[in-house]
Amino acid sequence: MNQDSVVYLNGAFQPLSEAKISVLDRGFIFGDGVYEVVPVYNRRPFRLAQHLKRLENSLAAIRLSNPKGAAEWEALFLEMIRQTPHEKQAVYLQITRGAAPRDHGFPQGVAPTVFMMAVPLKTPTPEQVEHGVSCVSAEDFRWHRCDIKSISLLGNVLLRQTSVEAGAIETVLFRGGFLTEASASNVIVVKNGVLLASPQDHLILPGVSLNAVLEFAPMVGIPVEVRPISYAEVLDADELWLTSSGKEVLAVITLDDKPIGDGKPGAMFKKMWAYYQEQTLA
Ligand SMILES: Cc1ncc(COP(=O)(O)O)c(C=O)c1O
Repeated sequence: MNQDSVVYLNGAFQPLSEAKISVLDRGFIFGDGVYEVVPVYNRRPFRLAQHLKRLENSLAAIRLSNPKGAAEWEALFLEMIRQTPHEKQAVYLQITRGAAPRDHGFPQGVAPTVFMMAVPLKTPTPEQVEHGVSCVSAEDFRWHRCDIKSISLLGNVLLRQTSVEAGAIETVLFRGGFLTEASASNVIVVKNGVLLASPQDHLILPGVSLNAVLEFAPMVGIPVEVRPISYAEVLDADELWLTSSGKEVLAVITLDDKPIGDGKPGAMFKKMWAYYQEQTLA
């Protein structure tokens, strides 16, 4: 992204170098806002309706009224994509409670700040898809509303840094011994031919890619079971996958330096990966 890249801010498309917000913006001061990241393939947004629904849920959870209807959001996403020169993009949208004198309570009559930018979508390399990736684990010390796609990401940032420093691709999180998600992805376990996923409660983000994979599973012939999953079960998995808009679906071959299954991306992963690719291009 360079300074001439076009971004959207509060009603206008403009070069990045000209886009300015107040230092009193509550996003900056309190992390008081929510966001979405929508992957775009062949210049077409993937699962936009699901992202807009999650945005609606995040806004409702923080009691910020949605500044636009679904049709208006769609038009804005399409225009952002049109103004950006990549076939594969990640469109980032952030909405904050606006700029106001610093006070924790909600300000009255303040317009939200709406910001959008598009960057090239970074998906896993062919090597990562073929050979899989390594992860480390950590205790999930984030707050109890991880279902809100909040811009307050300090917990996720610190937890992600643990894997950066370990040379791993992600930090898989456990709360009281049970799997929640990863620092910026969801996690799926495959055991005895069944796809296991953690309950989508307040402790994880309901990933659009996770839900795509759960929806595709019957088509690929894999049964799904949603239930709490312990650390021991994760280590004993036949396969372990990460899902996110950028990672799509990606096989994990070691966790905390211990091999998962036979230490290679599994047969179920290969089937799901191929199906997912087809869907992104459908
Ligand atoms: C904490 C967390 N969980 C899960 C996900 C995956 O969500 P999605 O599949 O909608 O990209 C993300 C995405 O960034 C995330 O930050």
